[in-house]
Amino acid sequence: MTQSAYRAQLLTFTGDPAQSSNAAVFDEDGLVIVEDGRVVAAGAYAALASRLVPGAQVHEMRDKLIVPGFIDTHIHYPQTDMIASPAPGLLPWLETYTFPTERRFADEAVARETARFFIDELLACGTTTALVYCTVHKQSADAFFAESEARNLRMVAGKVLMDRHCPEFLRDTAQSGYDDSAELIARWHGRGRQLYALTPRFAPTSTEAQLTACGELAKRHPDVFIQSHVAENLDEVKWVAELFPGHRSYLDVYDHYGLMRRRAVYGHCIHLDDEDRARMAQTGAVASHCPTSNLFLGSGLFDFEKAGDAGMPVALATDVGGGTSFSMLQTMNAAHKVARLTGHHLTATRMFWLATAGAAAALDLADKVGTLAPGAEADFVVLDPQATPLLARRMARAETLEERLFAFALLGDDRAVFATYAAGRCVHRRDGVRGAGIGIGARPAVLQAAH
Ligand code: GUN
Ligand code: ZN
Repeated sequence: MTQSAYRAQLLTFTGDPAQSSNAAVFDEDGLVIVEDGRVVAAGAYAALASRLVPGAQVHEMRDKLIVPGFIDTHIHYPQTDMIASPAPGLLPWLETYTFPTERRFADEAVARETARFFIDELLACGTTTALVYCTVHKQSADAFFAESEARNLRMVAGKVLMDRHCPEFLRDTAQSGYDDSAELIARWHGRGRQLYALTPRFAPTSTEAQLTACGELAKRHPDVFIQSHVAENLDEVKWVAELFPGHRSYLDVYDHYGLMRRRAVYGHCIHLDDEDRARMAQTGAVASHCPTSNLFLGSGLFDFEKAGDAGMPVALATDVGGGTSFSMLQTMNAAHKVARLTGHHLTATRMFWLATAGAAAALDLADKVGTLAPGAEADFVVLDPQATPLLARRMARAETLEERLFAFALLGDDRAVFATYAAGRCVHRRDGVRGAGIGIGARPAVLQAAH
């Protein structure tokens, strides 16, 4: 057994900072001790130094801040190459860019190469867990999981289900979608750190038969994730009302087919009403707020105040390629501004919680990720307050933890990520060689052997 330790400033959470003023736990001189890919202890250096075994490698990073790895709760890996493609709103954007791009993933070599780049990009931004949409092709999911498994990352992903209102070349059927999803669950769900998500793209692209089949799979596999989009755009909401006339609301379509429960994650949730929000809270389904995407596509403003009043679980996400950045720091930047526009003050401390422990709790993964509690998987990010001259200058004037975190959220991006660790291994270093993999090509950290 080898012990590694990281001496740095440390931020963890015991709960939602909006509910309790002591929910954020900060150690100016902290220590994280890791063995066999798991956290053994994390807290004040003075309290934990005696737990270091002789010969333990202590990584000296006292000018850096360690936080749990970021969790992106909604992202499309096949859309990596079409990020920043302009269109007048969601539906034309899907037609013009998304569907032709996703067609290429019928080729497993394209899928594998894109998954590799995509994961490099996530890790460069400090994201260690993501809920990932693949394409309709089963091999696109195999390619993604294989690449994630090779780096020992905790990822959740699924093959898209889509049997209507899309080009012929991207269509499955209710039966083939069911069979492929069942096969992928058997192959990947719970294999190492991989987890499966049933992924009906959104109600307009699935027939009633496909939603029924998806609901059956959800029932058979109560611990599998479900991910889809809901109430993102007003044209989309209108279209759903025409396609599913018997339903009270867009969200009610998913409810009807048994797709609302814990571990069901709905992207956007902008144009919901109070009844929908209450139903999200009752079922434990999670709203995945994607602010850079919502601003880019002009979809609307997510209402944090109403979400909070209803008690519905919320997490943050990039929604690349509708989103315009892979960075959860940039996502916090946009989330803060969207909240401002709806009259809500979203603190940086809460946004860091939403992107780590809050997301993990909402996803029923709180014992594994989003935390540095003993026994947790050792996924964490090392942030550099001196990453850019401007960030360093602003940090020099930051007097409180909130001010420091706010500077990271508003001014930070991949440049602020000094290193990323997954299951205790360094999977990205800012000054290392991109794509070099674990440790290779990376400059060694400053090491000091414990006495
Ligand atoms: N709704 C259905 N598909 C998509 C997608 O790929 N991106 C976004 N943002 N919304 C969608
Ligand atoms: Zn999306």
